Amino acid sequence: MRKRTWTVIIATIGILLLLELSFILWGRSKTTTDAYKISSLHKSITGCEIIPKSFSLSNKTSQQGKNNSDKTSDVSFPSYEETIRAEEDSISVVNNPTSVLVMVNKQRKLPDNYIPPKLVIPNVRFSFNEIVEKRYLREVAAVPLEKMFKQAEEEGYILYGVSGYRSYNRQIAVFKMHEQELGEEKAREVSSVPGSSEHQTGLSIDISSESAKFLLSTEFGSTPEGKWVKENAHKFGFIIRYPEDKTKITGYSFEPWHIRYVGIQHATYLYKHNLALEEAIK
Ligand code: DAL
Ligand code: ZN
Repeated sequence: MRKRTWTVIIATIGILLLLELSFILWGRSKTTTDAYKISSLHKSITGCEIIPKSFSLSNKTSQQGKNNSDKTSDVSFPSYEETIRAEEDSISVVNNPTSVLVMVNKQRKLPDNYIPPKLVIPNVRFSFNEIVEKRYLREVAAVPLEKMFKQAEEEGYILYGVSGYRSYNRQIAVFKMHEQELGEEKAREVSSVPGSSEHQTGLSIDISSESAKFLLSTEFGSTPEGKWVKENAHKFGFIIRYPEDKTKITGYSFEPWHIRYVGIQHATYLYKHNLALEEAIK
């Protein structure tokens, strides 16, 4: 009788030890969440706690850091050369005018007579009442613009659209106006020659605020609304296309009012690394 009791006790201890060993081995091979579940299951059976090796605060933090950096390191931009279709009068013609990552500037222009697809009127405040061309934007940018204006308003900043899509013909008139006022050289610093304006892509819009008298002036950048846009536009996929510290790279004067849609991931990448589009598209 006594002998049998001892046999039962030794067998029970043996089974428990085996169980313990298998739990430990199993726990190591699982993810943090699974290991945590295993640990709880183990605790309910044995009353003891296994702290899984992979479950620690420092580990969790470094994992989060890794994920964040992965998000931006995954971002890739099209190559400069591969997005050129032809050369015309010593300026390159781009082959990706409909891409949200299209880059036009003093070296690169849109194909002749390019009209963007799906132009719509964003449901936002404008600084004027007429239903005219400059009220339009490509749908892909219009929806994020609505979200951005709404979020700004919720935080107490009222933004106004001033000038969105601009056709080739309209750009002729705008450039001429600047040329007559400033002369050709200065006009080229603030206005694009027809065919190379981002406004013709339908992905850009000039914005302002009452505090900036609804003007497109550098003062907008110093208003609470302008500062909000600078720090938040990327969350909605927009970049300040002509930043103050990048005038030599972009070829244009500082325009805190001119925002350009590139998508959230790319806008966030450019914002975080303080890059102009020209520095990312090589
Ligand atoms: N003001 C910008 C550079 C444009 O005319 O497209
Ligand atoms: Zn503009």
